[in-house]
Amino acid sequence: MRVIHSIKKMSAYSSDKKLKKKIIGFVPTMGALHEGHLSLIRKARQENDVVIVSIFVNPAQFGPTEDFKKYPRNFQHDVYLCRKENVDAVFYPKTKEIYPSGYSTYIEVEGLSNILCGRFRPGHFKGVATIVAKLFNIVKADNAYFGQKDAQQAVIIKKMVQDLNMPVKIKVMPIIREIDGLALSSRNAYLNPQERQAALVLFTALNRARRLIKNKVKDSRRIIKDLKGIIKKNRSAKIDYIAVVDPDDLAPLDKVKNKALIALAVHIGKTRLIDNIVVNCN
Ligand code: PAF
Repeated sequence: MRVIHSIKKMSAYSSDKKLKKKIIGFVPTMGALHEGHLSLIRKARQENDVVIVSIFVNPAQFGPTEDFKKYPRNFQHDVYLCRKENVDAVFYPKTKEIYPSGYSTYIEVEGLSNILCGRFRPGHFKGVATIVAKLFNIVKADNAYFGQKDAQQAVIIKKMVQDLNMPVKIKVMPIIREIDGLALSSRNAYLNPQERQAALVLFTALNRARRLIKNKVKDSRRIIKDLKGIIKKNRSAKIDYIAVVDPDDLAPLDKVKNKALIALAVHIGKTRLIDNIVVNCN
């Protein structure tokens, strides 16, 4: 497995593979790899000739008061896991390599970036779209793999790829959960044992939404009110949002019909967690 630090070498590596008609699968990450990332890597391994994983904690997607500095970093272990999963190359650039001094170009996917998480994290999705576009250009991926846990991110990346005619196919893989339902996230590492327990309220609330919808409750306001009630009972939880939206374009739904994405963001203590489910009520 190659570990590549420079853009020039990464780009040359991919060009060489393309010349040899190899299909490149790409998994962009910020490291601190867990089973969620590994599920993306395994899918990429199944579907491509070459698998490239990037590890880059992208400063452009963190707000000034967010956790960029303390975001979990565990490069040696990440490399170990990538080797075990038969990854061909890990791209591990320094911040200066990606954003040299004078860097000034950003991508904004309008309309989708300032709703849901974007309302609470201004600039976040601009940072995400920019780094992902840069990585796509460097890595020259044919297929790129993202997790459904970041549902809004996946919708935004798909829209960017469509709008900018990028020659890459976006594959979105299901959320991986702990046995008790907590969605895997690198940020779970911040939770102390009490908070870890409290964090289960996200999954409990989503299950409640699923049950309500199954029992023919279709009114989104009623569903949201019910979920709020459940989460607010938990003293360490603070809700950013609970939303019922169209899974394809994130448009709010007054009533659940066909497919709906129920998405929420909740602070447990100082840790902001997100989770979602897609319900199909045909
Ligand atoms: O989902 C993530 O880990 C990040 O947002 C991504 C896609 C790697 C961009 O930095």
